[in-house]
Amino acid sequence: MYKHVVITGGAGFVGSNLTLEMAKRYPEAQLTVIDDFRSGDFKNLEGYKGDIIAADVSSINLKHYFGGKKVDLVFHLASITDTTDHNQFRQVHDNVESWRNLLDYFAGRKTRLVYASSAATYGIAAGINRIEQTPKPANVYAFSKVQLDNLARAWAEENKTQTVVGLKYFNVYGPRESHKGAAASMMIQLARQMRRGEHPRIFKDGEQKRDFVYVKDIVTCTILAARARASGVYNAGSGVPRTFNDIIANLNRVLKTDLPPFYIDNPHVHYQPHTEADLTATTAALRYKPKYTLETGIDDYFASGFLE
Ligand SMILES: NC(=O)c1ccc[n+]([C@@H]2O[C@H](COP(=O)([O-])OP(=O)(O)OC[C@H]3O[C@@H](n4cnc5c(N)ncnc54)[C@H](O)[C@@H]3O)[C@@H](O)[C@H]2O)c1
Repeated sequence: MYKHVVITGGAGFVGSNLTLEMAKRYPEAQLTVIDDFRSGDFKNLEGYKGDIIAADVSSINLKHYFGGKKVDLVFHLASITDTTDHNQFRQVHDNVESWRNLLDYFAGRKTRLVYASSAATYGIAAGINRIEQTPKPANVYAFSKVQLDNLARAWAEENKTQTVVGLKYFNVYGPRESHKGAAASMMIQLARQMRRGEHPRIFKDGEQKRDFVYVKDIVTCTILAARARASGVYNAGSGVPRTFNDIIANLNRVLKTDLPPFYIDNPHVHYQPHTEADLTATTAALRYKPKYTLETGIDDYFASGFLE
């Protein structure tokens, strides 16, 4: 079905899982990863047989690499993902110009585009996150993602025969995230503490809820988005918020430990008490239905050998 697929950020956490799944599902397709390895890791692409271009998407000369070649689909996941990087110029420049470069080049070429937005665009508002909500970015990373959505909306208006789909990923966890360090999911960070025999440290009282979503569901959703009939932006989560205490209970179960949480004061004034993806539009437009619960997601993660 696809002859040539480009995946930016393919050496990263979600990007590498997506790349390896695309290689499995479409063995005949030519895959090209673009990544500058600022946070990604070559080890994530073990077994990958496609092409790789080590370059910054915000400045790459796309014509040089893709001129005269047909690209059916672009998955754009490359992004600064450390939300604690407060360098406003770097975050906005690198994230926004990467997207503009791709949109400009692939306009009028029949290429479909899917890009990673973020639930961070909702800000610190508690409750169910609905796609029609006005964005309230609380940091410059989230602000840059709002600009991606704005650019995509304007581009879709101008390029009605092409589709561009944005996905607001919630809290993703799963294999191939260990390179992210402090920006990795709480699953791997808490599991590391527990494997060392330490009490897992979380903010008081551990009952804050997050929409944690397993990476295999996110990969499925992202691949479904490539077949959307129309352009749009959708939530990509599990639809079921769970507490940090729930994570620790499940980690104790799979790691066969019995380490109760050690509660610490939350130093953040602005802290999301609850995130929850409303998946109504995602299910209707993309036919996405998450398969993994927190329990089965953590089971699968543990069985993969990557939860360490
Ligand atoms: N993991 C999550 O929970 C989550 C949540 C919301 C949104 N997202 C979005 O999903 C996407 C993937 O995130 P991830 O968790 O896999 O993070 P990651 O840091 O593992 O992956 C990002 C990849 O992009 C590359 N990169 C960054 N800027 C680049 C540039 N200008 N040019 C080329 N390569 C560049 C990095 O080297 C890395 O390999 C990102 O767009 C991120 O904002 C992730």
